[in-house]
Amino acid sequence: MASFQGPLLYEGKAKKVFGTDHPEECLVLFKNDITAFNSKKHAHLESKGSLNCQISALVFKLLERNGIPTHFLAVREDSLMLVQKVEIIPLEIVVRNVASGSLCKETPIKAGSKLAHPLVDFYYKDDDLADPLLTDARLDLLDLVTLSQRMEIKNLALRVNNCLKDFFQEIDLLLVDFKIEVGFNKNGELLVSDEISPDSCRIWDLNIENQEDRILDKDRFRKDLGGLTDSYLEVLRRIQSSNQFSLKDSLN
Ligand code: TMP
Ligand code: ASP
Repeated sequence: MASFQGPLLYEGKAKKVFGTDHPEECLVLFKNDITAFNSKKHAHLESKGSLNCQISALVFKLLERNGIPTHFLAVREDSLMLVQKVEIIPLEIVVRNVASGSLCKETPIKAGSKLAHPLVDFYYKDDDLADPLLTDARLDLLDLVTLSQRMEIKNLALRVNNCLKDFFQEIDLLLVDFKIEVGFNKNGELLVSDEISPDSCRIWDLNIENQEDRILDKDRFRKDLGGLTDSYLEVLRRIQSSNQFSLKDSLN
């Protein structure tokens, strides 16, 4: 496994990706920056990067244990994750169980309504275009993936949802919706990549009824509710205390 942090390959809003001394491995640094509304809102929150790195690592481990392939290899330091190198497909794949966010802005569906079936939406990952929602016809037109790869991506997203929804339920959390990014490694395997954290999910505390108080994700920042790092810490604490992970379970 790689042991050396090489050159910066890519910098996004919340992460930096570095090369390593291994051609098929990268190091991902989770930054303390947080943005919303396509960077119109921006802040720096101490320990946010470390919390998201630790939460993502445990979520990726959980997925792996359930036979869902991810790019995760190990946690190297507080905010640094070693991952397999993948060719990221410029799509944001969103799975929704409960109506919230853009679904309620763009349709008459009331916030908080449980959806009869999980809804999978594909968005084109491009900040300049503000990540537009894609139709099947536009996905055909863009030709980013074949039809069978698109089906494979949708199935993968639904498998992630089944696994995480049940896991979160066990720790009294409701998985409202989430976004994943996926990519192919050098062997052509499709891997769940990027991160899965409260920055990229909506997570509500099932023990709290008040709608604002139960939000444990980035909506606390989007809606100026405060208490974001405490909420992320609560998500991490619940995951660590679940039956799946004991304290002696090393992150590596
Ligand atoms: P949306 O309701 O704003 O479309 O968001 C759906 C889910 O996707 C929600 O869990 C937040 C996540 N998301 C991201 O991770 N990145 C983004 O850029 C956006 C717009 C949403
Ligand atoms: N990820 C996007 C941004 O950083 C949008 C969002 O999460 O609300 O601006």
